[in-house]
Amino acid sequence: MATCRICDTLYEEFISFGEMPIANGFLPPEDFDQEYYFEMKVGFCSSCSMVQLLEQPQRERMFHEDYAFFSSLSKGQTAHFKNFADSLMSEYLTGDDPFAVEIGSNDGIMLQNLASAGIRHLGVEPSENVANVAREKGINTISSFFDEKLAADIIEKHGRADTISSANVICHIPYIHSVLAGIAKLLKPRGAFIFEDPYLGDIIEKVSYDQIYDEHVFYFSATSVSNMIKQHGLELFDVEHLNVHGGSMRYFIAKKGSRKVTEDVQTVLANEERLGITLPETYETLRRNIEGSRDQLVKLLNEIKAAQGSPVIAYGATSKSTTVLNYCNIGPDLIAFISDTTPLKQNKFSPGMHIPIKASDEIEKNQPSHMLLFAWNHMQEIMNKETAYNNRGGKWVVYVPEVKVI
Ligand code: SAM
Ligand code: TMP
Repeated sequence: MATCRICDTLYEEFISFGEMPIANGFLPPEDFDQEYYFEMKVGFCSSCSMVQLLEQPQRERMFHEDYAFFSSLSKGQTAHFKNFADSLMSEYLTGDDPFAVEIGSNDGIMLQNLASAGIRHLGVEPSENVANVAREKGINTISSFFDEKLAADIIEKHGRADTISSANVICHIPYIHSVLAGIAKLLKPRGAFIFEDPYLGDIIEKVSYDQIYDEHVFYFSATSVSNMIKQHGLELFDVEHLNVHGGSMRYFIAKKGSRKVTEDVQTVLANEERLGITLPETYETLRRNIEGSRDQLVKLLNEIKAAQGSPVIAYGATSKSTTVLNYCNIGPDLIAFISDTTPLKQNKFSPGMHIPIKASDEIEKNQPSHMLLFAWNHMQEIMNKETAYNNRGGKWVVYVPEVKVI
């Protein structure tokens, strides 16, 4: 039993993934014996419909000066945030000397567009290494965790904000009420808080259970977001489904009554009702589907290994892969190595299962017949890049939305 972080109701887990390490905790062999684990259990609050981790590691274990996720390494994401910045500038940052805040600005992938347009901006980014990359690009960045206290400091130094945006961050923050209270104060009267995160509707429909890992404490839907923000005098005025990170939702929020609520909000809420997002049975079905996906993937990897006489190679040492590898108990016997373009991950080992991470030029040296696609959310970008592998008949093993070879 745990207490809901949103509404204080007691709730129970619907699935345990067992002992999990830090998803982005790629490590050298000398650190294997001190690796941190926690039991990763997920529950559903039947009162406010929030899906959440029962327990989350301390934030400093996940976000620090060696944080391994650099947003700008993906060309697709760079284009995605350029489009978003353009829409902020054309729709919300139009007044006199507008001010934009971003929570979890990472290496400046979004703010670089506002900075180059001369818009007053501030990035809040606690992981010092990625924040430094942003500063080198001329982006104003402070290395702090956003909360109510920090919002008050920002108001004092910079004034209130026209926009507060955040991508793939709000779902990371367990002390969400402090964050929302800060946002409610920091926004100008007609200001907009716009955030996007992986969407629970996609996780249920695609059985993309690898979105569940330590950093993601919440799995949002429009229903649970509406319930959560109400307590702070805020309301959802628009929603936009996005095809990034395997299916995300962008939520547009403002002070209650300050902006017209679009019809799309009602449509998405009604779709969620139909999908059963408010019903405990939905999560029982999800658990059974996750178990089925795990069993099929392990079976398939064993069959490929038996047929080709060697383990497969995996593509993309994603944070998501940590859940798959540890939950399915897939180790170096089934995956020879994981190829990844992030220098900080290369020559280290995957969290928990300790599979080596290598640079992508190792793929051609090994001439694999099958690769397991962990970075499935970047599939289009990867298919465009890996034409040599595809042209010589290389196959991809995927597991979302179903386990298969393509
Ligand atoms: N916004 C980028 C994107 O979408 O690519 C980065 C997303 S990354 C998965 C999450 C980021 O949130 C990390 O850079 C992390 O340091 C930052 N973060 C975590 N907790 C935070 C908090 N309380 N306040 C501000 N940033 C936070
Ligand atoms: P993400 O799913 O959290 O965005 O992480 C993607 C990971 O995949 C990141 O470590 C970089 C890696 N990657 C590659 O190795 N090659 C690629 O072409 C792409 C797009 C990502």
